[in-house]
Amino acid sequence: MRQVKVFLNEDEIPRKWYNIMADLPTPMSPPLHPGTGQPLKPEDMAQIFPMNLIEQEMSPERWIDIPEEVLEKLLLWRPSPLCRAYNFEKALNAPVKIYYKHEGTSPAGSHKPNTAVAQAYYNKEFGIKKISTETGAGQWGSALSMACNMFGIECRVFMVRVSFDQKPYRRLMMQTWGAECFSSPSSQTEVGKKILAENPDSPGSLGIAISEAIEDIMGKEDARYSLGSVLNHVLLHQTIIGLEAQQQLGKIGEYPDVVIGCAGGGSNFAGLSLPFVRDKINGKEIAIVAAEPTSCPSLTRAPFGYDFGDLAQTTPLLAMHTLGHDFVPAPIHAGGLRYHGMAPIVSHLVKERLVEARSYHQIETFDAGIKWARTEGFIPAPETSHAIAAVVEEARRAKEEGKEKVILFNWSGHGLVDLLSYDAYFSGKLTNYTLPDEEIDRAKKLVAQFPSP
Ligand SMILES: Cc1ncc(COP(=O)(O)O)c(C=O)c1O
Repeated sequence: MRQVKVFLNEDEIPRKWYNIMADLPTPMSPPLHPGTGQPLKPEDMAQIFPMNLIEQEMSPERWIDIPEEVLEKLLLWRPSPLCRAYNFEKALNAPVKIYYKHEGTSPAGSHKPNTAVAQAYYNKEFGIKKISTETGAGQWGSALSMACNMFGIECRVFMVRVSFDQKPYRRLMMQTWGAECFSSPSSQTEVGKKILAENPDSPGSLGIAISEAIEDIMGKEDARYSLGSVLNHVLLHQTIIGLEAQQQLGKIGEYPDVVIGCAGGGSNFAGLSLPFVRDKINGKEIAIVAAEPTSCPSLTRAPFGYDFGDLAQTTPLLAMHTLGHDFVPAPIHAGGLRYHGMAPIVSHLVKERLVEARSYHQIETFDAGIKWARTEGFIPAPETSHAIAAVVEEARRAKEEGKEKVILFNWSGHGLVDLLSYDAYFSGKLTNYTLPDEEIDRAKKLVAQFPSP
């Protein structure tokens, strides 16, 4: 019988996260204090994050131990299976083997709990009782709600309005895990009230929701903010995906020619790919591809420079590809891919040509996702379908070039709570959207106001 899934035993779960900081061929530009323009010091972030996570954010260590209490929770669904997509391969009729890490097996349905559990744990260790956060598609908010519940922490989630309206079931998941969820912009915060006064119909954005969540915890001794992507420590926690994948591929004597992930803030892409980027730095020939939407093309078209992570300019200045912190994205259905910026680590790797980026139109991603559901059964999240569209493109190229290829990609989450977006596709209501050049020019002007990295 052919082997479809490669499992690791529970005692084979990785016990350390991988920190690419130790292996970067060129150093990254540091985050800057927005007031002084100087590189950020740990104490500058102490009001927003607990110090144990700030230490991880800045750590130069290659390997960081995963605490036992975090492993215990991760074992509820990890190690996640590495699967071979035989049926999808057959439908593509190309000389490719397609492997995917199935991150849709977590309780919240995506890769997000990998860092949610770790962040909730470190906050608890630091004595934090309340966490506020933002969420786009609702995947992150639901993951953090679950993780906070596991560690007895109160959780408040600001959910981008367009997703809040599109996805009532995500809100109910958050409530089920004991969290409170608000439509953002909300009347809970000053920044939310100001935006609502100016534009009562504002669809919201991740930048706005982040500002609300940060305002919500400011000045409260026992409260902190948590971010579901972008930052170094978040990407670090996600590397368990790639580390498992390397062990699993090793068991069957395979190594990928191409590694693919969709990229919103960059965490699932980095989680799978960073251990392979390490191999590439050490001389392996491998293509590493980040897939993003044409409507929010931070990696493929936006400038690289310093910018804020949020609308109200409360975060440090991060060196990244950015569409501008005041960017309001089109209401496409891949809610998790609508962030204006990209993880500094991923942005740096693209700049250094260790990673390449491609963008896909909404309709071709749904075409790919539906082909997947009709061959492999599992219904992907709209974000994940961007990675699948990139797999389809790679397979087509392999066929044209007559080259055999092994493709590995991150199946970042299921779409069972995103079925309304499928309804929009089936009823012909979905449209493609390419961000106009004026928006890119606007981002370039905005970034030019800040120091250049
Ligand atoms: C299923 C899924 N995949 C991908 C993403 C994109 O986020 P990131 O780039 O941080 O992995 C999200 C974000 O919400 C998501 O829910």
